[in-house]
Amino acid sequence: MPHYPQSRLRRLRRWPWLRDLVQEHHLRPTDLIWPIFIASGSTRESIPSLPGVDRIPLGELVGEVAEAVKLGIPVVALFPATPAGLKSEDAAEALNPDNLINRATAIIKAAYPEIGILCDVALDPYSSHGHDGLVHEGYVVNDATVEVLCRQAVIQAQAGCDIIAPSDMMDGRIGRIRSALDHAGFQQVSIMAYSAKYASAFYGPFRQAVGSSANLGAADKKTYQMNPANLEEAFREVNMDIQEGADMVMVKPGMPYLDVLCQIKQRFQFPTFVYQVSGEFAMLKAAAANGWLNESAVMLESLLAFKRAGADGILTYFARDAARILNEL
Ligand code: PBG
Repeated sequence: MPHYPQSRLRRLRRWPWLRDLVQEHHLRPTDLIWPIFIASGSTRESIPSLPGVDRIPLGELVGEVAEAVKLGIPVVALFPATPAGLKSEDAAEALNPDNLINRATAIIKAAYPEIGILCDVALDPYSSHGHDGLVHEGYVVNDATVEVLCRQAVIQAQAGCDIIAPSDMMDGRIGRIRSALDHAGFQQVSIMAYSAKYASAFYGPFRQAVGSSANLGAADKKTYQMNPANLEEAFREVNMDIQEGADMVMVKPGMPYLDVLCQIKQRFQFPTFVYQVSGEFAMLKAAAANGWLNESAVMLESLLAFKRAGADGILTYFARDAARILNEL
């Protein structure tokens, strides 16, 4: 590259049209996956730590998804707020074909077969201890949990789920879930693995939204979710999930882990997603509410940063607001 003054990098920043012409990465509504919390009652419930995000009752779900369809958002991710009375030690409600998530899935599929539905596979919305797996003598046991996750995945596929997203971090679950789905005739249902999922403090508002924080109490998920200090281990996790048949991998959280996202995309050249988690959303919202940050500007900048780092798509609570703005541009 020639040196200054032959080269002047500001030359291509002079006009908006010129900046557009040389822009390297773009954010589109089709990059977004919109997480929706499902309420068990008949009214909409606000979530104090997620301003602007409500738990949606089944009766209002079609209206909500209609907006996603109109905005060109390709996928919604469903999360149930299971009533406390239905939570148990063995999380049996996860296997109820008529539970909140499966009813929500069926309702959406009937109204809008053209939008994708993603469902988490993990036991934390259903367990009285708030853990993602079965607990024996204080430890979240791996193989027995995987058996339950396989059944949960098949039941969700039967309800109409298109993308099974195991968020539990048990070893070996992707391969077992893949063969369970195939044996049940769901070869076309894909798997987005929460592969590099860290034991992060940024999930707080989500746990309030699904009502698992009280169940979890002072416990943590460090025996199954990853240590935030580790990067090479994320490569082993992703490698294992790809070997076992994952169609897409995910990094979570997002902004504090852009290095992990970037390196995974470069190493594996595989469909790679990122979750801008509840705590990241809450931070930006809180600062904007105080007038300290411009909300739409930081929203779009944070989402574009994921694209630059290599994400093929982003799970974000900003999906609707971002898609609205992008459709107006
Ligand atoms: C459940 C699950 C969690 C999130 C997605 N799926 C929470 C957790 O692992 O405790 C977090 C999402 C967010 O914070 O927005 N396994």
